[in-house]
Amino acid sequence: MTTNRTFTMIKPDAVAENHIGGILHMIEQGGFRVVELQKVALTAARAGEFYAVHRERPFYNDLVAYMSSGPIVAAVLEKDNAVADFRALIGATNPANAEEGTIRKKYAKSIEANAVHGSDSDENAGIEAEFFFGK
Ligand code: CMP
Repeated sequence: MTTNRTFTMIKPDAVAENHIGGILHMIEQGGFRVVELQKVALTAARAGEFYAVHRERPFYNDLVAYMSSGPIVAAVLEKDNAVADFRALIGATNPANAEEGTIRKKYAKSIEANAVHGSDSDENAGIEAEFFFGK
């Protein structure tokens, strides 16, 4: 089963470098409707909670520090087959492997500062949307 919603964050480097508009433009051009949108600074505790699933990974502490280094933009997006289609639009986690035309190919700087987050499953899309928007 697929749902028609996914969750995304525009990450601190992309926000700091004035790419909110460019990234939202690619998202809308990709056929997604912005359902919820919020610019917010995450504390380290909140960033750690969001990425708790990665707690045991070697990059966890750096990821938490990075994600709390400046404001992010959180959004809920709507489209048929949203989770899979959004992952295709953003491209590979490591921008070195991201295809032409993807958001990460255009805006990501490294595997950590990779411009955007996208939910990896319908279940996590719901959990992540709830984390920011309580629904
Ligand atoms: P994201 O899709 O937000 O989910 C977890 C994040 O961890 C990932 O994007 C990257 O920004 C970050 N990360 C840092 N190092 C790695 C790594 N080696 N493998 C996967 N993700 C990493």
